[in-house]
This record gives sequence, C-alpha cells and structure tokens, in this order.
Amino acid sequence: MSLPRKAILAEMGLSPVWVRRDEPGVARREDEPTSSPATKDIDIAAPAVRPAAPPEERAGTRESGDRAAQIARMGWEELRRTILDCRACGLCANRKQAVPGVGDENAAWLFIGEGPGAEEDARGEPFVGQAGRLLDAMLAAIGLKRGEDVYIANAVKCRPPGNRTPENAEMAACFPYLQRQIALIRPRLIVLLGRAAVNAVLGQEGSLSSLRGKTLAYRDGDREIPVLVTYHPAYLLRNLPDKAKAWEDLCRARALMRGLNAR
Ligand code: URA
Repeated sequence: MSLPRKAILAEMGLSPVWVRRDEPGVARREDEPTSSPATKDIDIAAPAVRPAAPPEERAGTRESGDRAAQIARMGWEELRRTILDCRACGLCANRKQAVPGVGDENAAWLFIGEGPGAEEDARGEPFVGQAGRLLDAMLAAIGLKRGEDVYIANAVKCRPPGNRTPENAEMAACFPYLQRQIALIRPRLIVLLGRAAVNAVLGQEGSLSSLRGKTLAYRDGDREIPVLVTYHPAYLLRNLPDKAKAWEDLCRARALMRGLNAR
C-alpha cells in the first residue's frame, strides 16, 4: 500500500481493518484460513440469485408508464436537467437541490446509496459528508477513486427530511432515473450500499445479512449486471465491528470485477 493511501485510511480510523490481506508483506493471522471468504476465488459463472423484478411488477411501486418511457429515452444532459427540476414526489418540497449523481459516465463500477443528506443537499453531490468520506476510504482500499471508473448515485435524488429512510413511493418515483443512469453507464458491477438501495434496485426488503456474499443480478434490457450488497457507510460509522464484514464484501467485489475483466 502506498504511503498516502495508508495515511488516508489511518486518518479515517480504518486501518488496520482495511488493509488488503493479499498484499505482499501483509502478515496473515495464525488462525486465519489461507483462503478467507473475502479473498477466495468467486465463481462468477454461478447463477445469480434472483434477477430484479421489473419495477412495474413490484408491489406498491407502480410508476406511470409514460413518464418512465420518456425518461428511458433521455441522454445524460436531459436526464440531469429533468432530475434537477423533478416534482414527482413530495421530497422536492424541502430540498435545496436535487443530487443526480457523480462520476465517470462510462464507469465499470456503480455504487448506489440511499439518498442525499444535508451536505449533499447543499453541495449537489452524493456522499460528500462523513459517510462519503468513509465511502471514499472504502473505495481507496480496493484501489478505486471517486470519478475514475466509478459512478456514485442514490436511490432517491432529493434529501428526505431529517435524513429519514425514503418511502417506497418516493423510491418508485425516482427509480426511472436510476434505471436510466444504469442503462447509460452500463456498469460491469453494481454495489448496493444498504437496505434502501437494495429495496430500490432489487425490489427486496428485509435484512442485508441474507443478501451479503451473494452475487445477485439487475436486469437492464437484455443484459444482466451482477450486483453485490454491503452495508451503508453511515451504518458502518455507527457499527464499527461490521467494518470487517464490509471489507469482506469489498474484497468480493474486487475479485468479481477481476473475473469479469478477465472474460
Ligand atoms: N448517504 C447516502 O445514502 N447518500 C448520500 O449521498 C449521502 C449519504
């Protein structure tokens, strides 16, 4: 690991948790299996657990077909302007501005969070607050950087008041935007950060623990994009012991991407 990156991780209080075990010179604990769940080869040919149900099939998330169809034809600029002017749900009432997303529009990696918080609402960019700094450190730990082959988006583009979890209807209203972002980016891998993102993208509610460690899939037209699930950085800030599990998830994501790139 290069010194600056090490220093960044230490600054974030993330070392040694985020040190890659497969890096030369990193000692293995005696009780650690040589092939840890995080670093063992991942069978990327294995069937994905369950393709996402199309949004129109999800209970309580029926979207107006016309609006969704219009959004599905937009290019980046029109999409961005439409999101910034959006009035499709009540979240627009309290926002300073909508937060469409940030990064490389041809990224291999797409990270999806829940929704903007206060800082994101003020600055118009996702994950720029405390959770965002942790996300940047998580990216750095697997050799990634915001904006470089990485795109970051949210399930909803406007800040829910008091940072509450977005409601299903709000996520459904925003889903055509995310759907179009995914179609335009054509990422090789999607990483869902937390339950709201899982609910929005895969239409699955419930615990993250049953989905972590599995290769799921999102259907974009005739393509199936692999999807991995991990904890939201804001959750990790409150639940430090789970950072180790998130680290496993990131290692899995990195291995999966390497496999995809080797195809
Ligand atoms: N949490 C999120 O889910 N998204 C952001 O952009 C910021 C915090």
